[in-house]
Amino acid sequence: MRLVATEMIDESMVLARNVFAGKCLVLKAGTSHIPKYTNSLKNMGIHYLYVEDELSKDITIPDAITEENRVRCKEILMNTLEDLQKGQSLKLNKLADNVENIISDIMSNSDLQLSLSDLSATDEYTFSHSVSTTVYALLIGYGLKYTRKMMSALAMGTLLHDIGKIVLDPAIVHKEDALTNEEFEYVKKHVECGYELLKDAPNIPTIAKEITLNHHEKLDGSGYPRGLKGDELNEFARISAIADVYDALTSDRCYRKKWPTYKAVDFLIENSGIKFDPDLVRIFIQRIAVYPNGSMVRLSDGKIALVKDQNKYTPLRPIVRVIADENGNRISPFVINLMEVLSLTVIESEVEISKSIINQKRNYTMEEESFL
Ligand SMILES: [Fe+2]
Ligand SMILES: [Fe+2]
Repeated sequence: MRLVATEMIDESMVLARNVFAGKCLVLKAGTSHIPKYTNSLKNMGIHYLYVEDELSKDITIPDAITEENRVRCKEILMNTLEDLQKGQSLKLNKLADNVENIISDIMSNSDLQLSLSDLSATDEYTFSHSVSTTVYALLIGYGLKYTRKMMSALAMGTLLHDIGKIVLDPAIVHKEDALTNEEFEYVKKHVECGYELLKDAPNIPTIAKEITLNHHEKLDGSGYPRGLKGDELNEFARISAIADVYDALTSDRCYRKKWPTYKAVDFLIENSGIKFDPDLVRIFIQRIAVYPNGSMVRLSDGKIALVKDQNKYTPLRPIVRVIADENGNRISPFVINLMEVLSLTVIESEVEISKSIINQKRNYTMEEESFL
């Protein structure tokens, strides 16, 4: 299985994972002839798909939580916020139950190095973002050996961290172009609005409620709303800041495409000790596959390879299958474990290379194709 940009799908590929828009299943795993759906998918804001093809047939991409739990959690969150908008009181029982399933998923996958991004349509960003931010926060919490109770509190806080956006003007919150300074100042209010909405809710610990208020605060005091810094920021605030930014960078937005994983990880490392807690960044990136399974990379000898698997705790040195030489010509595939060949490194990553390979494929003879 591998992740391919929707516009680069060709007839040789079969859909490897279900595609959802909201609560609806749009395309089922196993669907072939995907190119005929390309325009509709792009119109729905779905810019990447997981596919199976000759290049990637024995590659698996692990997810920290099951698809069922991810979809269910988004649905419950959507319903909870809709009820709140209709003036009903905040009911969190169902959400709390679902949180327990997500925590169980994460705790049963202790060796996991997370590769998956949630491929939901861009207009569902708030819900997908809330669930993914929660998964990332829980990976850090798990790394810190949090108790189940602490994990539950962290998850409730991160699921609801952007709840304040529901009381703001949607035309500004979901604006497709860059925000003006004035609009940005307005959107910043979501943190205080969110805290107001949650502060009297029963059954959520205060430390979880404070995530709504503090998830945009930064270690160096450059965040908002209060510009807290250093010791003024508790661990939940520090965790949620990392999880929130990482998911925002690696998600498609109306105004920009998602960043590749390695670039978002670089951003966290560059700001580690400045904006983000360095110990928590270290714990987080140990659990993230910098070069996700199924992604195409260029090695330092110029050859092109598909990432086949991860080496635990060494995210920069995956196991790869070399498929093309330095000129992009297909070669008989072979596997290299970059932990065993330290003279080689990954120097370039993801989609750009895959495009050239896919395009090139059409010029190849049947004989050469059979190498793959
Ligand atoms: Fe936020
Ligand atoms: Fe957020």
